[in-house]
Amino acid sequence: MKLTIIGTGYVGLVTGTCFAEAGHRVVCVDSNEDKVNVLKAGGMPIYEPGLAELVRKNVAAGRLHFTSSTPEGVEKSDVIFIAVPTPPLPDGAVDLSFIERVARDIAGAMTSYKIVVDKSTVPVKTGDKVAETIKRYCKAKVEFDVVSNPEFLREGFAVEDFMKPDRVVVGVRTPRPVAAMKQIYEPFDAPVLVTDINSAELIKHAANSFLALKISYINALSVVCEATGANVLEVANGIGLDARIGRRFLEAGLGFGGSCFPKDLSAFIKIAEQLGYDFRLLKEVQRINAEQMDRFVKKILDTMWVLKDKTIGVLGLAFKQNTDDVRLSPAIDLCQRLQKEGAKLRVHDPQAMEKAKAILTGVTYVEDMNAVAEGCDALVIATEWPEFKQLDLEKARAALTHPILFDGRNLFDLAEMEQLGFIYKSVGR
Ligand code: UGA
Repeated sequence: MKLTIIGTGYVGLVTGTCFAEAGHRVVCVDSNEDKVNVLKAGGMPIYEPGLAELVRKNVAAGRLHFTSSTPEGVEKSDVIFIAVPTPPLPDGAVDLSFIERVARDIAGAMTSYKIVVDKSTVPVKTGDKVAETIKRYCKAKVEFDVVSNPEFLREGFAVEDFMKPDRVVVGVRTPRPVAAMKQIYEPFDAPVLVTDINSAELIKHAANSFLALKISYINALSVVCEATGANVLEVANGIGLDARIGRRFLEAGLGFGGSCFPKDLSAFIKIAEQLGYDFRLLKEVQRINAEQMDRFVKKILDTMWVLKDKTIGVLGLAFKQNTDDVRLSPAIDLCQRLQKEGAKLRVHDPQAMEKAKAILTGVTYVEDMNAVAEGCDALVIATEWPEFKQLDLEKARAALTHPILFDGRNLFDLAEMEQLGFIYKSVGR
């Protein structure tokens, strides 16, 4: 089918590329001409495993095109996906101005029936607003349908998640666009759940909030584990083997960050508040998440006492593994707190150093992870990159002035670290 995706951020670019890979003809639109030029020239604005290769392959096959013109995108396809940012406002509510702008632009360019699909994460009832807006601004008065099709991909695993989704949610106001939506997703071999549009929009916020709740639950358990000498990894394994609970998203650590969970939690709390419900459960999820970082910083201070004039090595800057994204990264937050305490930092990340340089200054960026510990008083693991498990621990121990390792992501084995002679402090163990 012919599809247009408006917005080439993480969601839009992955969506467009994977649709092309599945055989559809795709036009990706972005108002940022520089970005479009980078993509046209074969460059990538983001790091996402496997994505660059797929973009190149599908551009070469003539299935994937880039443009900065929304009218061109609207004209070329019958199904238009909206994948523009929905950033948070200062009060936690969602800024829908990009969505509204795109709805007007689509309306102005429509000359025949279109299906307008929202992929951005939006508050429940946004689809109704999009429909009203298109109706108001469509000069040609042609027919259209609005669909909600939330995206569940994770950064770092975006291509894999898109190509093999657990489910595809399609929220509609009338049955008319269902057949086309099913056809678009047919190559992906996933159950398609057709719902009303409000339910589809709610599913996205409900899913992210539940996953954040799961993380805060295991982080709260990590506190109880530390107080009792239990091991949070054993507890996670023990409860995770119950199929009703599941083992995934039970990694205790520095708490969740990134551009989705913190924003979506605040948004969902705000949405509930506007509907007259005080979602205290989710407020507690936020509180536990903030406290988890406080506790980790305290752990470092309890051991090191004073950080002024000490040098700490930090491994990890991205908000999680497999990405160069540092937005609301717990690792960056941790670095800035250590700096506030007067510590000098030597930092490394396999992918995120360039992006980190814009927000984390006054630190030494080190290219080789095995060189970070040189001259440091302690080492900290802040992001769950699997590479860090291959760290040359003997070399690190020899390079450190004191063999102290604070592991905010529980990457190493307790007994092995003791054997190697480390003072090793992790989370919930
Ligand atoms: C999240 C959801 O997992 C996706 O399903 C959703 O589509 C996406 O948000 C979105 O709304 O766009 P993402 O933010 O890319 O994806 O990353 P996650 O893998 O969910 O991790 C989020 C944060 O939780 C990271 O900081 C990670 O380190 C942390 N985390 C995750 C834990 O601390 N423990 C865990 O067990 C899992």
